[in-house]
Amino acid sequence: MAQNHLLLLPGDGIGTEIMAEVEKLIAHLKEKGLADFSYDTGLVGGCAYDAHGQAISEEDMEKALKADAVIFGAVGGPKWDDVPYDVRPEAGLLRLRKDLGLFANLRPAICYSALADASSLKKELVEGLDILIVRELTGGVYFGEPKEIIDLGDGQKRGIDTQVYDTYEIDRIARVAFDLARTRDNRVHSSEKRNVMKSGVLWHEVVTEVHKDYADVKLDHILADNCAMQLVRNPKQFDVIVTDNLFGDILSDAAAMLTGSLGMLPSASLGAPDANTGKRKALYEPVHGSAPDIAGQGMANPIAMLASFAMALRYSFEMIELADKLEGAISSVLDEGLRTGDIMQDGCKKVSTAEMGDAIIAKI
Ligand code: NAD
Ligand code: IPM
Ligand code: MN
Repeated sequence: MAQNHLLLLPGDGIGTEIMAEVEKLIAHLKEKGLADFSYDTGLVGGCAYDAHGQAISEEDMEKALKADAVIFGAVGGPKWDDVPYDVRPEAGLLRLRKDLGLFANLRPAICYSALADASSLKKELVEGLDILIVRELTGGVYFGEPKEIIDLGDGQKRGIDTQVYDTYEIDRIARVAFDLARTRDNRVHSSEKRNVMKSGVLWHEVVTEVHKDYADVKLDHILADNCAMQLVRNPKQFDVIVTDNLFGDILSDAAAMLTGSLGMLPSASLGAPDANTGKRKALYEPVHGSAPDIAGQGMANPIAMLASFAMALRYSFEMIELADKLEGAISSVLDEGLRTGDIMQDGCKKVSTAEMGDAIIAKI
């Protein structure tokens, strides 16, 4: 069996608790002869800042660049609220995305049938939901320059963030969305605010142009504010939504609640295929954060993390059958009524992070 090398970055808060379930899964896959992963671990976020004053060390960045895939937990927490902006826990994640060139962030929102009642929306609106948000991840207002606070004198300051998109950035993310749509229901909604933003005007123009190469895919343009409203009004109208970095961040948190909990949403962040090997740099992480309010109590839902690992099996290692098996295991454990607190329902059995992980792993 080929050795596939991972870097595990648990991070802060519940990041360490959910990553423990990934380590158990990796050991189980090896023991059963299903897959053989080697891995290093590293520090990212607040724990890295505490250890060496940076949100990620150069050494761990090297490891990330060499790994076949990075598995990331979550970063941040109130302990680091006042650390300098450039070394904030979140800066570690942003650096990984930027330096690994992970421009395509896939955020699937799937409502497992057992959880159709757990959403804050009516069951009939979310039952069978399967949408994919394709978020641009290395551009836009997250990275545009200037990005600063300047002192204007007289007690006045100005905070500046810059939304910038170049044609090539929109072109490549649009192609990812159209290609993925072809493997699904063949429909793409492109979401921006061209009514107030120049970058939105360009986004609309470039996506329309790229669409000429994908005439078989149905394309609709939708303003981002309307998109947010439609996501909670009638989410099943969507198949693939392609959008920029900031809108994608917000729309995916909203989509999470359609699945029952933020603790359910996995993600894959992918780079461009290497010209020689065809391999993509990749990082897999849950959409949620470090959940300081429940950290350290064994309460976190590990499903978003384990489902992110399933995405790694699918997108980085072509282990499609094993990915299906892992996703199937998640589904059947939910069918059997096991629930962490965030998705707890009447008549179900409340379990800890580790118990949920064990039950899923036992089915593989
Ligand atoms: P959060 O996602 O950490 O938590 C929001 C709410 O969802 C909380 O009530 C939390 O308990 C709950 N929740 C999240 N994940 C859960 C899980 N797996 N199981 C059960 N409940 C879960 O967002 P926040 O509180 O706004 O942010 C906390 C910190 O996390 C901040 O420092 C933020 O910057 C950071 N953050 C990091 C990432 C990341 O590492 N990718 C993502 C989002 C936020
Ligand atoms: C996410 C998070 C990150 C983002 C933060 C932690 C930098 O919210 O991955 O959704 O804003 O992209
Ligand atoms: Mn977010």
